[in-house]
Amino acid sequence: MAKVTISTLDKIKASGDKFVCITAYDATFARLIEEAGAETMLVGDSLGMVLQGHESTIPVTIRDMEYHTRCVARVANSALVMADMPFMSYGNTEEALRNASLLMQAGAQMVKLEGGVWLSDTIQALVERGIPVCAHLGLTPQSVNVFGGYRVQGRTPKQAKSILADAVEIQDAGASILLLECVPAPLATDITAKVDIPVIGIGAGPGTDAQVLVLHDLLGLSTHQPRFVENFMTGQTSIQGALKAFVDAVKSGAYPREEQSYTA
Ligand code: KIV
Repeated sequence: MAKVTISTLDKIKASGDKFVCITAYDATFARLIEEAGAETMLVGDSLGMVLQGHESTIPVTIRDMEYHTRCVARVANSALVMADMPFMSYGNTEEALRNASLLMQAGAQMVKLEGGVWLSDTIQALVERGIPVCAHLGLTPQSVNVFGGYRVQGRTPKQAKSILADAVEIQDAGASILLLECVPAPLATDITAKVDIPVIGIGAGPGTDAQVLVLHDLLGLSTHQPRFVENFMTGQTSIQGALKAFVDAVKSGAYPREEQSYTA
């Protein structure tokens, strides 16, 4: 596969095809994920839970993210590597620029931040200085204590309107990708149609341009089982087989199914 860039993903959105993202934290899995045909990999701060054993992403540091981004980026040939900006590493624009630079210098091609309108100026500053941004909306796990748990967002008309407004605003600020987590499927479909940038969904139904899952979840290794998680090891005899099954299911539209989505 040729090197995937933002324009590759824009073209996939325009064609109506789907692309795939899987979280990666080390070189071995990054290689397998790329071999399975995923166009993008996310060095997610979910590593706080699946690698470090924390209960949330909040303890993850920029040093942790730098280290795992280096491990993944060292072997990524074709896939576009995104890296999460961890909790409080983008509290203001100056901090965001400094910390995003560390992730880009570790090999990321894009950074991901959680938030909407309040991040507009920061997104604009990052993009102006050559740092592409993916903005994460809906259930933003770094705000779990504000939400009072990992809850579906955008279920009331007021919340849905606010998430749509955030999506438009962050696109206007220059974000290249939007990631929607745990929002009702009709809202995600509506946002995907209304913005020009590619939208990646997780627990957001089948209407987004792409799907992402946490590696350990799709391999059936996690103890929690939210509705949208499918164990792709089922019926497979190898990790490679499970990764390929996930990629194929997203591209064919077989994943996610309706019962794996949320309603308003
Ligand atoms: O950190 C992560 O793995 C993520 C995904 C849940 C999208 O942000």
